[in-house]
Order: sequence, then structure tokens, then C-alpha cells
Amino acid sequence: MAEILPIGSALTEAARRLLAGEVVAIPTETVYGLAADATNGEAVARIFETKGRPRFNPLITHVAKIAMAERIALFDPLSRKLAEAFWPGPLTLVLPLRDVAGVHPLVTAGLDTIALRMPVGFAADVIVEIGRPLAAPSANSSGRISGTTAEAVERDLGGRIGLIVDGGPTPVGLESTIVKVDGASVRLLRPGGTPAEAIEAVAGVRLERGGKVGVEAPGMLLSHYAPKAAVRLDAGDVRPGETLLAFGPERVKGAEKAAACLNLSPSGDLREAAANLFTYMHRLDAAGAAIIAVEPIPRSGLGEAINDRLRRAAAPRDMPARDMPLSRS
Ligand code: TXA
Ligand code: MG
Repeated sequence: MAEILPIGSALTEAARRLLAGEVVAIPTETVYGLAADATNGEAVARIFETKGRPRFNPLITHVAKIAMAERIALFDPLSRKLAEAFWPGPLTLVLPLRDVAGVHPLVTAGLDTIALRMPVGFAADVIVEIGRPLAAPSANSSGRISGTTAEAVERDLGGRIGLIVDGGPTPVGLESTIVKVDGASVRLLRPGGTPAEAIEAVAGVRLERGGKVGVEAPGMLLSHYAPKAAVRLDAGDVRPGETLLAFGPERVKGAEKAAACLNLSPSGDLREAAANLFTYMHRLDAAGAAIIAVEPIPRSGLGEAINDRLRRAAAPRDMPARDMPLSRS
């Protein structure tokens, strides 16, 4: 059992533990993060140990101020424009690492680039408090669904960490969108909580998709977001024994016979669906059925990231993501 403290009284204790090299689960606006001092190699190693990650994938580094980001990475004008438009918020920028960045090489898996983002809320407060960037992947054991509540984090990792900071359910519910600017073009490395269309509107160019995903985002295993149950996508019906992850006002054939049914958004709102996605997959998984049937979900806006996570959950376990295009279905 980890100690669970509400955000209102957790700042000092979380800061103390982080400065002592411990990992602490903290809320961000996207998902809970398993945070450690990004400048402390042993602390970062504890993240991998705690998650049971099969390899040292590069992690996202979280900052609280643009000035902190600029000490770590080199900003081209377009990346700066995106940071100004979307930070703090669910957008991660992959940027060239400065020589004097001070971030431990384990964070970047030895790459000469770094993934940076500025989170909202408690995560930003604790970064200001300790004056150091935080490395933080999602707070879940490797291959499992990202934690979007303190309870989910406790169930999954409670036996392995000392402190969980409880900020309630995370509002976005999906990890950040990851992009990398390359000259005048912008590549989408992972769809997420900032819709591609919003980034395109600021950047003035279409995002490039697919291609060098395996190289650019080496950490992305296809089956990264896997519940225990198998996942059947774009289900046109519900078969005997299946549970149903529904979307919108209309039900597919056989829905009334589902062993359990949860609706991501009865009104068909993609933002609501994103916020519920991981929690509902957790709950249907806990219902014990072998298969979760998922109704079709639109692919525009946040639907791109929702469908991406669902495809990963549906994929055969432990296939490298580079074997499939990241953002097309
Ligand atoms: O919403 C989020 O982004 C959450 C919360 C906790 O902030 N964090 C998160 O972090 O999802 P993490 O460490 O699990 O995300 C790692 C992703 C992987 O897909 C990895 O390959 C990619 O970021 N990544 C990290 N560094 C990279 C780099 N230098 N180049 C390309 N991709 C990189
Ligand atoms: Mg994750």
C-alpha cells in the first residue's frame, strides 16, 4: 500500500521524496505520471524498475517554465510557436538536446533529442517546488492501461511505490500528443490529448504521419495499452459472453446481451470519451470477460488518439509498433 495524499496537502512531501531520489505518482491533466527527478540517474532507473519496463525507452521530461525547457533543449521557431500555443497542456515536443541539459542520459535512452512537455496543475507546482525537471511516463506497469485515477494507480503500483498524490480523475484521460518539428514540417509521433487539427491550425501545415515511427518513438510497443481481456474493435454486434464498450446514443446488435456495458459518451462527445477510456477499459477488464467488444468511434479530432489506443489494446501482445502505421486505421 502506498501512502495517498490529496493534492492540497501533498506538495512538501512529494517534493521531499522526489529530491531524495524516490519515484512518486502524481496527477497531470492527461494521465497520472510515475515521476522522478530527471537529473538523477538512480531515480530515473527506479521508474523503469517500478514499471517493469522491458527496456530503457526514452521518457518524457516535464518542465514548469519555458526557461527551464530552454536550458534543456534547443527550440526552433516553429516548436516555440507550438509551445506558446499549447503549453501548459497535453502536447509533447521532441527537440534537440543541449550539451549542458543536465538531464540524465537514461531519460533520453542516449538519444540526442528529448521529449519535453509542460503539464497543468500539481505536476507543474511540484516542479517549481524542487526546481528540477521531472521524468514521468504514465503510472502503470509496463503493457497495462495508463492510470487515470489514484485508485487505479494504487491497484497497479501501490505495492511498489511510497506515495501517490490524488488529484481525482485526470481531465484529459489520454497521454499527450507527441510531435517533432523537422524544418518546415511537423511529424505526429503519437496522437494524444491535443487534436492534430488544433496543431495544424497553429503550425499552418498538415502533420506528417506514419513512416519512421520505429526510429522516432522507439518506446512505442504496439500492445502498450493492453487490458487483460482481448479487445475487438469496430464491433458491429455483441457476441455471447462479451462485454461492450459503447459510444454514442445508438447501440449495436446484441448489446442487451452484453455481460457488462459501459458507454464512453452517451451523447457522442469525443472529449468525454477520451476522459473515460482507460477507466472504462479497466472496469470492463475487471468484469472478467475474455473479450471487450468496442463500438465504432469516429476518427476525427480526439478520436484519432482514442482509436490509436484501442488498436494498441487490441493488438497481439509485444509486437513492435513500427510494424504498423501509428495514426492511420
Ligand atoms: O501525457 C503524457 O505524455 C504522460 C504524462 C505522465 O505526462 N507521459 C507519458 O510519458 O506518456 P512516456 O514517457 O510514457 O512517453 C514516452 C513516449 C514514448 O512513445 C517514447 O518513445 C517517446 O515518448 N519519446 C520519448 N523521448 C523521445 C525522443 N527523444 N524521440 C522520440 N520519441 C520519444
Ligand atoms: Mg504509458
